Amino acid sequence: MLNLGIVGTNWITHQFVEAALASGAYQLKGVYSRSVKKAQKFSDHYENQEESLITDQLETLFHSDQIDVLYIASPNSLHYQQAEQAIRAGKHVIVEKPMASNSTELNELVELAEEKEVFIFEAARHIHEENFKKVTSLLKTRDDVVGANLTFMKYSSRYDAVLRGEEPNIFSPKYSGGALMDLGVYLVYAAISWFGYPEDALYFNQKLTTGVDGIGMMIFRYPTFDVTMQTGKHADSQLPSEIYLSDGTLILDAINSIEKITMIEREKDKKVVIEHATDVLENPMVAEALAFSQVINHPLGVEEQKNYQEWIQLAKDVHEVMTHMRKTSDILFEADQ
Ligand SMILES: NC(=O)c1ccc[n+]([C@@H]2O[C@H](COP(=O)([O-])OP(=O)(O)OC[C@H]3O[C@@H](n4cnc5c(N)ncnc54)[C@H](OP(=O)(O)O)[C@@H]3O)[C@@H](O)[C@H]2O)c1
Repeated sequence: MLNLGIVGTNWITHQFVEAALASGAYQLKGVYSRSVKKAQKFSDHYENQEESLITDQLETLFHSDQIDVLYIASPNSLHYQQAEQAIRAGKHVIVEKPMASNSTELNELVELAEEKEVFIFEAARHIHEENFKKVTSLLKTRDDVVGANLTFMKYSSRYDAVLRGEEPNIFSPKYSGGALMDLGVYLVYAAISWFGYPEDALYFNQKLTTGVDGIGMMIFRYPTFDVTMQTGKHADSQLPSEIYLSDGTLILDAINSIEKITMIEREKDKKVVIEHATDVLENPMVAEALAFSQVINHPLGVEEQKNYQEWIQLAKDVHEVMTHMRKTSDILFEADQ
């Protein structure tokens, strides 16, 4: 059983803790918040938490003997420093997406984790889900992709604060926010997983008064096709995503959590519809929680090592492309300076 400590007490941390507990591989053993009262309240939500460490000091949590692995779900720009501290204290870390503000930070964290012989995971939860992996397997058997159009765009209730002239974390360059970092990252993960590292990546976007991107369109160029991707945080897209093949179209109901995969084959006089999706888990974070625990528990396992190295390479590629797209479209964070 892995002893879990958490940083950040918003709803996503509850969702991860519930997934971790449901996986049967973790127990909650430490809660950090800037407010002890908040940390206590978070911990009280779970049963049998009497012995949990409750603290408003990061160092106390990171150096506690009763913690094996930390889940970090603070604002994006804090991930690097917090993960670095935790790794230096010898802990494994699961860092919410995007793991770092830019690729330099990400590469440094990966190198440090290697040096300290701990694991670092980016909580890109969708790539661990069964239906995402099904699409990956389907596409591995095909060399006839003609193009793709992927979408993930959702109105954020925090945009209301932007309209009032405020700067919530997720819309702030200080906290490495914006549409690409928050939602676009799911698309970038999907495109690189399914089609590989692009020859070029363009990002056209509209900036908000805060300086980050509110809505944008990416184009990834591959030798024989292009992938267009739409993301945004102040509009809702109801469009499915589509992957075009020489003999038909693969339709996905979503990218962040795929529930329906439909292949419509183009035959001479008829359409053939094939449904591929499996049932989705009630809590979408269970798959990643399990996958990470397997690597931590079997550090020398051949399959586990292979998976880990693939996730790390994918995270590096994703962050390199995202950093490139931001820099070429003048989205600069404090963390870049
Ligand atoms: N995988 C997913 O489905 C998913 C969904 C949502 C979010 N996320 C990721 O989770 C992370 C957190 O997102 P969020 O929307 O929850 O962020 P947030 O509300 O801005 O902050 C998360 C937590 O960090 C702490 N915090 C907030 N502002 C802080 C500051 N200025 N300095 C230090 N600590 C601060 C707070 O905890 P305390 O007050 O207790 O210290 C807060 O509960 C992001 O990386 C985001 O991308 C992932």
